[in-house]
Amino acid sequence: MTVPGTPKIPYGGDYNPEQWPEPVWDEDHRLFTRAGIDTLTVGVFSWSLTQPAEETYDFTILDRVLDRAAAEGRQVCLATGTAALPPWLAKKYPDVNRTDFEGRRHRYGQRHNFCPSSPAYRRLATQMAGRLAERYAQHPALLAWHINNEYGGTCYCDLCAEAFREWLRDKYATLDALNDAWCTTFWSHGYTAWEEIEPPNALTEHWRGPDHTAFQGTTLDYFRFTTDALLGCFLAEKEVIRAHDPDTPVTTNFMGMFRPLDYHRWAPHLDFASWDSYPPLDAPPTWPALAHDLMRGLKDGAPFWLMEQTPSTTACRDVNPLRRPGELRLATFQAIAHGADAALYFQMRASRGACEKYHGAVIGHAGRDDTRVFREVAELGRELELLGSSTLGARTPARTALVFDWDSWWALEISDGPSRLVKYQEVVHAYYRAAREAGADVDVIPQTADLTPYDVVLAPALHMIKGDLATRLEAVAARGGTVLTTFLSGRVDEHDRAFLTDVPGPLAPLMGVRVDEWDSRPPEFVQTVPELEAQARLVFEIVLPRGAEPVATYGTDFYAGTPAVTRNRYGDGEGWYVATALDQSGVDQVVRRVLARHDLIGPYTEHPGLETATRVTADGTRLLFLLNHAPEPARLTAHTTATDLLTGKRVEEGEPLTLDPLGTAILRLQ
Ligand code: GLA
Ligand code: ZN
Repeated sequence: MTVPGTPKIPYGGDYNPEQWPEPVWDEDHRLFTRAGIDTLTVGVFSWSLTQPAEETYDFTILDRVLDRAAAEGRQVCLATGTAALPPWLAKKYPDVNRTDFEGRRHRYGQRHNFCPSSPAYRRLATQMAGRLAERYAQHPALLAWHINNEYGGTCYCDLCAEAFREWLRDKYATLDALNDAWCTTFWSHGYTAWEEIEPPNALTEHWRGPDHTAFQGTTLDYFRFTTDALLGCFLAEKEVIRAHDPDTPVTTNFMGMFRPLDYHRWAPHLDFASWDSYPPLDAPPTWPALAHDLMRGLKDGAPFWLMEQTPSTTACRDVNPLRRPGELRLATFQAIAHGADAALYFQMRASRGACEKYHGAVIGHAGRDDTRVFREVAELGRELELLGSSTLGARTPARTALVFDWDSWWALEISDGPSRLVKYQEVVHAYYRAAREAGADVDVIPQTADLTPYDVVLAPALHMIKGDLATRLEAVAARGGTVLTTFLSGRVDEHDRAFLTDVPGPLAPLMGVRVDEWDSRPPEFVQTVPELEAQARLVFEIVLPRGAEPVATYGTDFYAGTPAVTRNRYGDGEGWYVATALDQSGVDQVVRRVLARHDLIGPYTEHPGLETATRVTADGTRLLFLLNHAPEPARLTAHTTATDLLTGKRVEEGEPLTLDPLGTAILRLQ
């Protein structure tokens, strides 16, 4: 669903006026109007104000914040505020504090650190959500509910141990089934009573840290349990909100490619997806793009909200560079290009103290509106007003899909062997990047997604194969599509048990190969792949073609001349297997060959730094976003006749079309 009642892209962000005196609020709103700010996320950290003691609720300040927003014609995304505990609560009910991986029970401090199994937390958080819903369901400013904040983290307390055992009973029903799934005959672990099962941590199955476990099956189930335990907290709050407010959409802010939580398990329970984008330093533009597409994929391609981004700088990193002039605008249009229907900041005004006092804000400590950042925010506000509703609700008609799978991410990175250096996100990103830079729109989808809309399915590092996925991938190829997978795919079942067949397991018939053995080398070791003039690193699978033809081979070592990349005809289509971690240029060449087969290479691929993305509105209007990530102008030749929504200028097919450095055009195609 899209969020009703928004005639334009909601623009604004986290607003915590409880942190400063009320006269400043006048100034806040004056500046919001100047900057085209219409949406405020309120109450994210207000629990100690709204409930100063267990029996005392006090909504005076929140009332004023919401009433003021309504009076100013602004909408509110209202948080339940249950992510940061008030001190009295932790003191009175110490079991709300987490027990960490080392087994230490924490004491009061920080935020995002409640035990998901604590009955006191569950009771008090849901009571708070219920009170808020009762009070504000009919409030004229209410646009959406924002439950908690950035759920995450793991607890290993006794309550969680008990809840884990319950979760396992539900899943396996019998200890025989659990012992079988976890391969417990290995190292004499046969469980004879549920009480014998311990959460996997530094005191039990782990060594060297959270990714080094003796029993992958146990650790995987703890990741899944944690996902479900936090989801349980979300659902409990959502349920009480729904009891008072049947209509207003509910979300929680995700963190994109966040390893600890399998967001695909959460997705059905959100009314719309939203996320906070803080790309790592030096990340290429395809990194946040991948996260946007992953978030869009949560709700089957429906638009999402950009719930947070910094207008200028973060504070939590060792080094916190500024967003250069123009970078904020470009990042915002990039989010919209990938399906964002809201553009919100953390934060509207800087906090005076504590650890985020130097975090970027639309309004700084001095309260000025003549700063560069304020000017850029306000200018963007004007452009979003200009866009009006023209992008809202628009979908992405991708014909290329990339399978993203948390189970595979976890299984790959907690595996002993073949290489600790293979990072799931890096492999997935390399293939995503290749496809996007070739001009293809990409849907990032779960294993369970319907594959029928796609001509190309990229499934890099798909370590775990679940359900009937292999059959559905075969169906893609049988009807003429192309499926690509890579090294370390098709290795394990849903319990992390190796398939008792040749590698790549259930993918072998489609790929037409048998992986006979595999070599893993330190990062400085480079294997050449002469046909692609590319280099390969880390893992080298030795492939025996079983119907597939070699596309490229290894250049050295005892397996020189054997295939590094293969192509297999399957039905009317093809299965491609890449047996090693090719460098980006190698991945680009392979992916371009695959895309070319389906005529999916975009019209502007010769312009490095130029990103394209398409959205299609409900009435069928095609919007082509052109995003110039380069510091110099992009001089294009229009491939079709179109009107730029941002300038109103029309360009005819074949005419020159120039984008400024970091410039954006949103072309409405004729
Ligand atoms: C997260 C949180 C915010 C704030 C920002 C700072 O996204 O949700 O409360 O801490 O980070 O970057
Ligand atoms: Zn716990």
